[in-house]
Amino acid sequence: MTGDEWVGELQDKVIRDMKRIYSPKVMKLWKNPQNAGSLDYPDGYGQVTGPCGDTMQVWLRVQADVIIDATFWTDGCGTSVVCASMVTVMAKGKTLEEAARIDQQSVLDELGGLPEEDRHCALLAANTLREAIGCVRPKLAKGS
Ligand code: FES
Repeated sequence: MTGDEWVGELQDKVIRDMKRIYSPKVMKLWKNPQNAGSLDYPDGYGQVTGPCGDTMQVWLRVQADVIIDATFWTDGCGTSVVCASMVTVMAKGKTLEEAARIDQQSVLDELGGLPEEDRHCALLAANTLREAIGCVRPKLAKGS
């Protein structure tokens, strides 16, 4: 067996193991995260560092109280990328009021669940989204 074949087999094994643990939706976002990156001149921005030490950021573009764009960045684990991506997908098209109701459980439900040790990544994502929403509200109240 060549080195490349060995690496290929190892990668296949890791993916097979992950599929046993994670839902198809988690695997899909893990392979192809949606909405990664920042937004120029965002209407809302939140940054939260979780107890695990990982930091997440969410940027929002809002029009007439509706989130028309949402993006994220994180220096955290693979699951934090999946969760951050999921909250941006969930937030888009929702009013600020509706998006503020996105919590850890709704992220977990939308993802089809996560192993116990990864569940806090969903909490960090929900908290970061709420932080970004909290930043938009005062601006809207001032009419800017
Ligand atoms: S381990 Fe820190 S967010 Fe996942």
